[in-house]
Amino acid sequence: MKIAVACDHGGLPLKELVKDALIKNGCEIADLGTRTGESVDYPDFAREALSMLVHGKCDRIVLLCGTGIGMSICANRIPGVRGTLCHDSYTAAMARRHNDSNCLILGGRVLGPAIAQDIVEVWLATGFEGGRHQARLDKIDGLCTELKYQSRG
Ligand code: RB5
Repeated sequence: MKIAVACDHGGLPLKELVKDALIKNGCEIADLGTRTGESVDYPDFAREALSMLVHGKCDRIVLLCGTGIGMSICANRIPGVRGTLCHDSYTAAMARRHNDSNCLILGGRVLGPAIAQDIVEVWLATGFEGGRHQARLDKIDGLCTELKYQSRG
């Protein structure tokens, strides 16, 4: 599985650990930065990873910022991206089983290393259940289309 990884300064320390966990679990990774502790804007780093995902240049992506909230807002604006902010192995499993997560989001300032590693392993290993959960995801796509149309008047 090819996975693009991007973070801001708040996610940087955890990104290295996440990369190690991905590689250990057989993934090919593309590290899209940031690479220094200098303060940066998380949308600038989400951009390339989201672009790779929607253009099929990778299978899934991992985004990290301080809380994971800013990256979540970015990711879930983009049609086709199912960004899931995970806090533990339970939320990671459910993000895959019920939400078909293709974008794992982590908060570098709120997660310890062992929990983050667990999350990555479970998120990689867990499958999507489909069925009623696919129908719900289809409804989200319908909602986006409907509200986008309405917002144009
Ligand atoms: C950066 O200070 C911080 O705001 C960012 O990493 C993230 O937590 C935003 O949601």
